[in-house]
Amino acid sequence: MGTIEIRSISRVFAKNHAVNDVSLTVEDGDFLVLLGPSGCGKTTLLRMLAGLLEPTSGQIILDGADITREPSKKRDLAMVFQSYALYPHLTVASNLGFPLRVKGTPRAEVATRVEEVARMLEIDHLLARRPKELSGGQRQRVAVGRALVRNPRAFLMDEPLSNLDAKLRTATRQELTALHRRLGATFVYVTHDQVEAMTMATRIAVLNNGHLEQVGTPADVYDRPATAFVAGFLGSPAMNLLDARVDTVDGTVVVEADGIGGALWDGDTDPTDVTLGIRPEHLRIDDRITETRGVHANATVVTVENLGSEEIIYCTLGARQVAVRMTRTDTIVVGQSVTLSASLAHVHLFDRLTGVRLEWVDAATGPSELTAPVEFSAV
Ligand SMILES: Nc1ncnc2c1ncn2[C@@H]1O[C@H](COP(=O)(O)OP(=O)(O)OP(=O)(O)O)[C@@H](O)[C@H]1O
Ligand SMILES: [Mg+2]
Repeated sequence: MGTIEIRSISRVFAKNHAVNDVSLTVEDGDFLVLLGPSGCGKTTLLRMLAGLLEPTSGQIILDGADITREPSKKRDLAMVFQSYALYPHLTVASNLGFPLRVKGTPRAEVATRVEEVARMLEIDHLLARRPKELSGGQRQRVAVGRALVRNPRAFLMDEPLSNLDAKLRTATRQELTALHRRLGATFVYVTHDQVEAMTMATRIAVLNNGHLEQVGTPADVYDRPATAFVAGFLGSPAMNLLDARVDTVDGTVVVEADGIGGALWDGDTDPTDVTLGIRPEHLRIDDRITETRGVHANATVVTVENLGSEEIIYCTLGARQVAVRMTRTDTIVVGQSVTLSASLAHVHLFDRLTGVRLEWVDAATGPSELTAPVEFSAV
């Protein structure tokens, strides 16, 4: 078991809200990734879960029991730090066995468990070495192994891959995902790397400036970002976000901005300032617009980046720049005038002031208006 309920947790440092009223449930067996830019409060939140830092307010419930004031060693949660925090004077075997020895586990049992874990992580040939005689990747495995030896209720990991080079990161990412699948245990994993989040998580919680922007599966947060912040944070290049206005013309809801136009839905809405979002891979360069619903724009190509299989075309739209990601054609050249279009299914709208996602609620299912979807309104 390892269900962690975080209820309205806040932590204030000298009037600065490092974590601001975050509520979130990590289900048993989840691989929950806390994702957000530097300084958004990820480590602070994880340290509160681990019992290394007291919340200013709020509660933490582990499998139904309130552990908010429990000391760290009573929580039965294992933490892996970014720095690995291995004991330099101890061998790998002693580092791995340490959490069991402090609990007074019999020697023979410690040895068996250490061997088991070392074999699982393929570090059994390193047991006699000290941390300074290991590579970064090997140290990282020892740190994970030390968390594994005691079958905790959940694993808490703070950017454990950030000291590894790109190739090793990719390999270790896959190992950790496989390990999670094999153990079926609860993981809470902190990163600012969106690729790690998208590839490893069962669910992603996006934090911004101490507060929670959205929680959902990787597909949820990528396909239906709850806020303009989430939309702009996930994706590379980032989602194109442009100031625009939604209005009604002859019974059709349209979106307009400098050089951009589009008919969206049949209906009627008050004029609203919005942020229009379209992902680079959803923009097409195509002179023949066949769809009657969607967004189109006239633009000029300013840069073409060849990524091998794909190309990123940067275009100017008046004073603004947008990115288009497409399979490489080698036919688009700098200076070329192009028509860009996107289907309605790929158009995102956000309230310009609050950043909250807006969606069209059809008359058949409810009031016909552009509103924040109910499940996101608590953001
Ligand atoms: N002990 C502390 N005293 C005062 N302020 C702190 C303390 N720890 C963190 N903060 C502040 O709280 C905010 C959140 O910090 P935190 O370390 O949780 O961010 P983070 O999301 O982990 O960032 P990073 O990705 O850079 O590790 C930051 O503004 C930070 O300066
Ligand atoms: Mg941190």
